[in-house]
Amino acid sequence: MGILSSSIARKVAMALSAFFLMFFLLIHVSVNLVSVFSEDAFNTASHFMGTNPLIQYAMQPILLFGVIFHFVLGFVLELKNRNARVVKYYKNNGAANSTWMSRNMIFSGLVILAFIVLHFIDFWFPEVNYKYIAHLPEDPSRYYGELVHKFENPIRVGAYVVAFIFLALHLLHGFQSAFQSMGCNNKYTKYVKSFGKWYALLIPALFIFIALFHYFSH
Ligand code: HEM
Repeated sequence: MGILSSSIARKVAMALSAFFLMFFLLIHVSVNLVSVFSEDAFNTASHFMGTNPLIQYAMQPILLFGVIFHFVLGFVLELKNRNARVVKYYKNNGAANSTWMSRNMIFSGLVILAFIVLHFIDFWFPEVNYKYIAHLPEDPSRYYGELVHKFENPIRVGAYVVAFIFLALHLLHGFQSAFQSMGCNNKYTKYVKSFGKWYALLIPALFIFIALFHYFSH
């Protein structure tokens, strides 16, 4: 794998892609949060994001590459870690020396991946179809209605909420692990770790709030 042939390089690449995706989540939750406050503002923001060429043709492909890169490398790391240890840790008896989150990153990652497939079927594919396949005329006020419509179905809302809980578990370990992989360890480490915990809980909580808000208010 060339540049990714050393295990340190793989960890750093994993961490960098993780930070990039965490930055995306911050933007994503912020735009979605607008839908709770104002239909017009949400339509304006979505129309901008959906039609701006820089976002559509530069940011979006980079983002999709980032998502695929992160989960492919995640699998590679998991497999390498498993194979590297023919003799299992003498003391790796679960909760005694590691957290559930750290031992189950591949599992929480798979739940998030399943969510992304569902999420793309819900939002992204119809959007690509609307703009680039069916070439329907752009209506800048369509976005809010499309969003609200998706959150009428309690099964979808339930599946989303479960996925957001796994996202929190993934981020709780992921943030501090990515930080550690970057080799940063100094007097600010404890503040960064506590920031990471806040981030890991707040972002999924906001996503849950948005989904439930639309479910209960329409
Ligand atoms: C209440 C929660 C959420 C809502 C309402 C929501 C809404 C949306 C909408 C409307 C789009 C379509 C954007 C477009 O026009 O292309 C979208 C795209 C996307 N969402 Fe979400 N989302 C939520 C949570 C999440 C979460 C938790 C993740 C990641 C774990 C995520 C990942 C993505 C990705 C990767 C895209 C494709 C972005 C693009 O290239 O357009 N979303 N989301």
